[in-house]
Amino acid sequence: MKVEEIKKIACVGAGVIGYSWALYFALKKFDVFVYDITEESLDLAKKRVNESLRSLWKNHVIEEEEICEIENRILYTTVMEEAVRDIQFLVESGPESYEIKKEMVKQIEQYTSDDTIIVSSTSGLLITEIASNAKCPERFIGAHPYNPPHLIPLVEITRGEKTSEEVVEVAKAFYTSIGKEPVVLQKEALGFICNRIQMALYREVCDLVMRGVCSIEDADKAVTYGPGLRWGIMGPSLVFQLGGGQNGIDGLLKHLGPSINLWLQDMADFKEFPKEFGKMAREGVEEEIKNRPEALGNNDASLAEYRDKMLIEMLKLHHKL
Ligand SMILES: NC(=O)c1ccc[n+]([C@@H]2O[C@H](COP(=O)([O-])OP(=O)(O)OC[C@H]3O[C@@H](n4cnc5c(N)ncnc54)[C@H](O)[C@@H]3O)[C@@H](O)[C@H]2O)c1
Repeated sequence: MKVEEIKKIACVGAGVIGYSWALYFALKKFDVFVYDITEESLDLAKKRVNESLRSLWKNHVIEEEEICEIENRILYTTVMEEAVRDIQFLVESGPESYEIKKEMVKQIEQYTSDDTIIVSSTSGLLITEIASNAKCPERFIGAHPYNPPHLIPLVEITRGEKTSEEVVEVAKAFYTSIGKEPVVLQKEALGFICNRIQMALYREVCDLVMRGVCSIEDADKAVTYGPGLRWGIMGPSLVFQLGGGQNGIDGLLKHLGPSINLWLQDMADFKEFPKEFGKMAREGVEEEIKNRPEALGNNDASLAEYRDKMLIEMLKLHHKL
C-alpha cells in the first residue's frame, strides 16, 4: 500500500476520539465512513462534528460555506460492512479494553481486504495483544492521538510484534502528509511516550496535593504559567539545553545534579494512584473552576471552548493551521 492509494477511511467507534478523527480526515478531503454500534452514538458524533466545525469557522480556520462540504464527506452507519468494505485505512477508536478491541478486530477483518491498514487509537494497550487473534496481524498498528485529534498534531505510532515495517513506514508517511507529527516507538511500552510523561508529572501533582504542599488550583497554575508555556514551544530536553547556558543540558544536570538528587529522593514513586485522590482532585478542580473568570472558561463546556480557541492560536504560531 502506498500513501497515495489511501482515498477512503473508516472510523470505527465514534466517541470523543473517533468523531474528531473523522472530522480531521474529512477536513483533509478524504471520504470518511463512520461506524458505531448505536444510532444515538452516531447522532452524538454528527453533533460534535458540527460543533467542532463551527468552532473552526469562528476561529477563522475554515469558511462558513465549507462546513456543509466537509460534513458531506462523512457517511454514518451502524452496519460495519458498509463502513469498512471498500477502504484503505481504518481507525479503531472503540472502548479501551482488550476484550472489546479483540472482538472489533474479528468483525473488522471479516469485511476489510487484507491490505487495509488497521490503526488503533488505544491510549496505551499493546498492539501485539489487540491483534493476537488477527488473521493479518502485520497490518495492525497503533496511532495514539491526543485529544482532540483534529487539533493536536502528535500521533504516537506503535507497532506490535508482527506489524510489518512497511505498514509503519506508510502510516508515518500518511500522518505526515496530512499535517500530523508522528513519532514512532522503537519498542512496545505500555502508555507509550506521552502518557507516561503526563502520568509521571501527575503522580507528583497528586503527591504534592495529598501532602498539603499546594492546591490542585496552584499546581495547575504553576504548570500553565511556568514550564507549560515553554513546553508549548519546545520539549523538556531543549528547555534544559537553554537552561544550562553555554554548558548546555549536561552542564545543567551537572550543576543542579546534587540538588535534583535530593528532590528525587523526596518525590513520589508510588505504583498505584491512591484511591482517595479522585475525590480530592474533583473537589480541587471544582474550586479552581469556580475561581476562573468567565473569559477563560468556568464550566466544562466553556473550558473546552477556551482550550480549542487557545490551541488554534498556538497551532497558528507553530504553522500547523
Ligand atoms: N478520550 C481521550 O482523551 C483519548 C485520547 C487518546 C486515545 N484515546 C483512546 O481512544 C479510544 C476511544 O476513546 P474515547 O475517549 O473516544 O471513548 P468514547 O467512550 O468516547 O467512545 C467509544 C465509542 O466506541 C463505541 N463502541 C462501543 N463498542 C463498540 C464496538 N464493538 N464497535 C464499535 N464501536 C463501539 C461507543 O458507542 C462509543 O461511541 C480508546 O481506545 C481510548 O483509549 C482516548
